[in-house]
Amino acid sequence: MDFLALAVISSNLLLALVIIHAEVGSGQRTEFILHGFRSNGLKLDGTADITPNGLLMLTKGFEDQTEPTGHAFYPDPMIFKDWPGGSSFSFSTRFVFAIVPPAPTTGGPGMAFVVAPQRGLPGAEHTQSRQFLGLFNQSSNGNSSNHVFAIELDTLWSTGFNDTDGNHVGIDINGVVSVKSAPAAYYTDGGAGKLENLTLMSGQAMKVWVDYNATEKRIDVTLAPLKVSKPSTPLLSLVQDLTPIMKKNMYVGFSSCSGELNTKHYILGWSFRVNGQAQDLDISKLPKLPRIGKKPTPKLLTIGVPLLCVFFVSILIFGLVYHIRRKMKYAEVLEQWELIYTTHRFKYKDLYNATRGFRDLLGTGGFGSVYRGRLASLKLDIAVKKISHDSKQGVREFVAEIVTLGQLRHRNLVTLLGYCRRKGELLLVYDYMPKGSLDKFLFNQPKVTLNWYQRFRVIKGVASGLLYLHEGWEQLVIHRDVKASNVLLDAELNGKLGDFGLARLYDHGTDPHTTHVVGTLGYLAPEHTRRGKATKATDVFSFGAFLLEVTTGRRPIETEGNVDSILVDWVHSCWKRGDILEATDPNLKREFVSDEVELVLKLGMACSQSEPTLRPTMQQVVQCLEGDLNIQDLFSSLRTSLNQLMFTPQDGFDDMVMSYPSSSNQIFSAPSYIEESILSGGR
Ligand SMILES: *[C@@H]1O[C@H](CO)[C@@H](O)[C@H](O)[C@H]1NC(C)=O
Ligand SMILES: *[C@@H]1O[C@H](CO)[C@@H](O)[C@H](O)[C@H]1NC(C)=O
Ligand SMILES: *[C@@H]1O[C@H](CO)[C@@H](O)[C@H](O)[C@H]1NC(C)=O
Ligand SMILES: *[C@@H]1O[C@H](CO)[C@@H](O)[C@H](O)[C@H]1NC(C)=O
Ligand SMILES: *[C@@H]1O[C@H](CO)[C@@H](O)[C@H](O)[C@H]1NC(C)=O
Repeated sequence: MDFLALAVISSNLLLALVIIHAEVGSGQRTEFILHGFRSNGLKLDGTADITPNGLLMLTKGFEDQTEPTGHAFYPDPMIFKDWPGGSSFSFSTRFVFAIVPPAPTTGGPGMAFVVAPQRGLPGAEHTQSRQFLGLFNQSSNGNSSNHVFAIELDTLWSTGFNDTDGNHVGIDINGVVSVKSAPAAYYTDGGAGKLENLTLMSGQAMKVWVDYNATEKRIDVTLAPLKVSKPSTPLLSLVQDLTPIMKKNMYVGFSSCSGELNTKHYILGWSFRVNGQAQDLDISKLPKLPRIGKKPTPKLLTIGVPLLCVFFVSILIFGLVYHIRRKMKYAEVLEQWELIYTTHRFKYKDLYNATRGFRDLLGTGGFGSVYRGRLASLKLDIAVKKISHDSKQGVREFVAEIVTLGQLRHRNLVTLLGYCRRKGELLLVYDYMPKGSLDKFLFNQPKVTLNWYQRFRVIKGVASGLLYLHEGWEQLVIHRDVKASNVLLDAELNGKLGDFGLARLYDHGTDPHTTHVVGTLGYLAPEHTRRGKATKATDVFSFGAFLLEVTTGRRPIETEGNVDSILVDWVHSCWKRGDILEATDPNLKREFVSDEVELVLKLGMACSQSEPTLRPTMQQVVQCLEGDLNIQDLFSSLRTSLNQLMFTPQDGFDDMVMSYPSSSNQIFSAPSYIEESILSGGR
């Protein structure tokens, strides 16, 4: 029986031992390591919470005043003793924390690592007193029945509690009056023990090591910035046996208390071990702290944005300059009175584009430069004449006249398509004449000359054009500048009279003291220079000069050395000698119809008479050229004959010749005082 009883007792004992070991092996843990707290079942109470990225946030801060404390405990108890009466084991913990103030200068309560007999700190939840760090209350503070061991990271200086300052680390046993404390700092390595201050409430993550060596009965507390490895010298070292404080099973966790300031307490990672060194935390695995304060402005903002601004501003300026330049480039003058002429008016921009920026210069005449262009929209080749003018006055009359002239349509007149006006500039748009002006084919040893048939056709054409100006239209138009260089040839070598009426532009002055004679020397009738009045007869005179130059290939006045050779006189002398054909252009190589040449020369002589009343009309000229009127009959109707022909040079003519030796293409325009009034006076 004894044996049986002994066996029962020993098996019971064995069972008890097994149970004890099972308890040690399964329910209780001796170590853990946590990088972030997303899903490891910490027991939270009060304001404690886990952020979405796994930070343990002990206090939410100011938003929630009803639960000023926050606790987080590891769910499983840790064995600190073999049996309730035994001595405490060594233990060790590492954690990374951050206290983030709402603003750098403001403060708030701190936090604590805590070892407590239960998963929570009952009685401390609603203390409303920040100094207790959520660990105790007024009545329980300091009571040895608490069995609470804590490491406080205090950011408040509570005068009653023997605090060293408002930024200290303390070892607390059963109460917040630290058994030992020190300002937050760490020893840089090298044994010399240089102390570097730390600011707990800096918003920066920091590492804490707490080690209790049961053999030496010593508690070591060490702090360091996150990137610094564990200093060999601890900040706090306290020799104290924790056996009376520790129970067999204890819970480990963190505690904090939120004040009225929105300070946030975070734990980023945590490891713990009984009887040995806790594992070191891997910084790279820790969750990131939320940004504090202002976002550090990225490079894109500090460099990129100003650059972008500069870029956009320069684009803007460039655009503006471009726009203004474009506006200036294409600027026109358009006045109210001009609106009725819009159908005759061209946009400067269109002309600019049509002439590719006035690149293709066709020639420079007395009235201005002529540029070739093409109006793509109308598929029309044009010649644009640029006439500069300074005065605003008179333009109105001129434009009205341009528009009127624009209505003239004759196959031997160059069509005026329209005009455009700019500041100081007038542009006239004409049909483009591909072969250019007639004088190129006549003078200065031309490469290509016209045969007699072609010349005679041009002569007849120009005559009919001039007749149209004189008689064919409701209004009399005096051309004022008939000459070979104002006769243009189209593709079929038809002669067209150009520049009609333009001379009038320069002849609006009505000041009786200044007579504005505009025309070309050699083509000006003597009475025209004398009285300054252009008439049909003055046009006939010019036409006479034109007839002679086309037939003889010579200019009305040619200067050889010091001697002026007057074409009319020379032809007259040939005629008197009985060989008028001698005057024919040698370039014709005597391939011509003698009767026609003779007719043209005699007609030219008739037109060139100094007495205007003796000159034929354009009507008669055309009749003669068409063979409807015999030249002899013409002469007799004019009551003149070969011997009665009179060719007196114009008054003051010699002086003009001296000043304008090359009379071919030059406008005789009076001195500058006339130019000033060119566009000024009314009619
Ligand atoms: C203080 O805490 C103890 C337990 O630690 C509790 O029994 C007591 O009721 C608390 N006192 C107050 C005033 O909250
Ligand atoms: C300590 O706390 C216990 C239980 O809470 C209580 O009975 C005891 O009176 C307290 N001692 C002191 C000195 O306050
Ligand atoms: C504070 O510390 C001093 C000595 O350092 C001690 O005399 C005093 O009792 C302590 N006060 C408290 C409240 O513990
Ligand atoms: C470190 O802090 C202590 C106490 O707060 C202070 O006396 C000391 O001047 C500080 N040292 C440095 C280097 O800031
Ligand atoms: C405690 O200190 C002793 C003697 O210095 C040492 O041998 C032992 O390893 C230490 N224990 C721990 C857990 O650090």
